[in-house]
Amino acid sequence: MAGDAIVETRGVGKTYDGGVEALRDVSIDFPRGQLSTLLGPSGCGKTTLLKIIAGLIPPNAGEVRVKGRKIDGPGPERAFVFQDFALLPWATVLRNVAFGLELRGVPREVRDETARRRLAEVGLSGFESSYPNQLSGGMKQRVGLARALAVDADIILMDEPFSSVDEQTRRKFQEDLLVLLRHRQKTVIFVTHSIEEAAYLSDRIVLLSPRPGTVSRVLTPDIGHDKDPDEIRRDRRYLDAVDEIWQILKQYVT
Ligand SMILES: Nc1ncnc2c1ncn2[C@@H]1O[C@H](COP(=O)(O)OP(=O)(O)O)[C@@H](O)[C@H]1O
Ligand SMILES: [Mg+2]
Repeated sequence: MAGDAIVETRGVGKTYDGGVEALRDVSIDFPRGQLSTLLGPSGCGKTTLLKIIAGLIPPNAGEVRVKGRKIDGPGPERAFVFQDFALLPWATVLRNVAFGLELRGVPREVRDETARRRLAEVGLSGFESSYPNQLSGGMKQRVGLARALAVDADIILMDEPFSSVDEQTRRKFQEDLLVLLRHRQKTVIFVTHSIEEAAYLSDRIVLLSPRPGTVSRVLTPDIGHDKDPDEIRRDRRYLDAVDEIWQILKQYVT
């Protein structure tokens, strides 16, 4: 294993049936306990890379190692939070959160108790018996995150989780996510196309070029996420990171 990387991609390439080359020779180390973002223009292969790391689709070239071992499919140490939430519409919020544990055969009382605690952590106590279609986009997102926390995966993969919620909800949820992660040793790999979001949340930012996605730059803003959210947004290092990212990405805007 390279340093303390919990996830490593080595020479990952992906060409879809039909000939679209989405990724080329992507080698990235994701350090344990850090929040890394994949940032790049739409269509550059961010979702593809995240799905390959999740083991949901195979690469055509290269490999992914998790804790030093080559993966060949999904695993319990990785939880995927989908862009469209992927909640079960026919199940209550509680059951949705407990679903991963249900699949693993955890007894009902244990999994319901765990799900209740995770729902409380994401601020959704009182909604256990609601159904997904009774929730706002921001609340569904919280359910998705609670589900990832419930299975206690070390690695949480999030694909543009805030893209379908309004700006206020997005900011609130970004703040909540940082607070939630502060006391946990979770490794998060987070996909976004928002420069501000990447700069605000990340320990590490991997900039991808347009398709086929390749690693363009890796930035480590060192903003210090133990600070107050409003302080972060005024911090020189945050503002510098936003500027630096934009200077790199703007060459890709035609
Ligand atoms: N299942 C698929 N079959 C064929 N092409 C795909 C498939 N999924 C994604 N693509 C193409 O691969 C490229 C990268 O897609 P994606 O990983 O979704 O990019 P991003 O998430 O960065 O917007 C795009 O051109 C997209 O159209
Ligand atoms: Mg995507």
